[in-house]
Amino acid sequence: MARKKLVAGNWKMNGLSADLAEVKAIADAARAYPQVDVALCVPAILIERAARAVPGFAIGAQDVHEAESGAYTGCVSAAMLLDAGASLTIVGHSERRDAQRESDAQVKGKAEAALASGLGVILCVGEALDVREAGDAVATVGAQLDASLPHGAGAAAHIPDDLAIAYEPIWAIGTGRIPTTEAIAEMHAALRRRLVAAYGEAGERIPILYGGSVKSSNAAEIFSVRDVDGALVGGASLKAADFVPIVAAAAAAS
Ligand code: 13P
Repeated sequence: MARKKLVAGNWKMNGLSADLAEVKAIADAARAYPQVDVALCVPAILIERAARAVPGFAIGAQDVHEAESGAYTGCVSAAMLLDAGASLTIVGHSERRDAQRESDAQVKGKAEAALASGLGVILCVGEALDVREAGDAVATVGAQLDASLPHGAGAAAHIPDDLAIAYEPIWAIGTGRIPTTEAIAEMHAALRRRLVAAYGEAGERIPILYGGSVKSSNAAEIFSVRDVDGALVGGASLKAADFVPIVAAAAAAS
């Protein structure tokens, strides 16, 4: 099945007011590639200014709390993100699963809260290097996906249209290393089977992105892999000069 490619940038903890010029440059350039969905997930405090700077362009968050409101010091709810102008959020990034000890159950709760509020979700999964080296990557990431997937009435109405999965091997993030194209294909096919098992035909329509050291130099090869429906890009999304060629590669592969 042909799925529209999605290329999303994850700025992580990078970006100040001065960098809104890059947001604008990326949004302007993305208009030349209507066959690709493009989004930038910026720090929460930049969302409102970024969304105002580029009306109609998808600005996302990098995390969301699973509760609607309440005594959660320092956290941000889905309604707050929407109110600021975000249209999507990342959940379950490995940097939060590891450093903030987020569990699969919490990631599932975050995905459900976001979808039920009308925010799109990019749900991340991925294995550590020791798991890959032990030959357990497909089983481990598959189990992680199953336990993290949103269910329930509030979320179901937004699946598949507002849900994407990002396969991000932890050992490939920020390292310049990427799995072989065969390993990416094997993982994406396994995740696709699990999505279909979870959601039936709708599972065929959920984009599965690859993330981890995606750059303009390797993007065409990654996008040529079967079942790769786009990319979640970290470091190479901070500058239009690095990010736009990745969007162009996705367009060329569409
Ligand atoms: P890099 O592209 O910097 O490896 O980061 C990938 C990532 O973690 C995106 O969420």
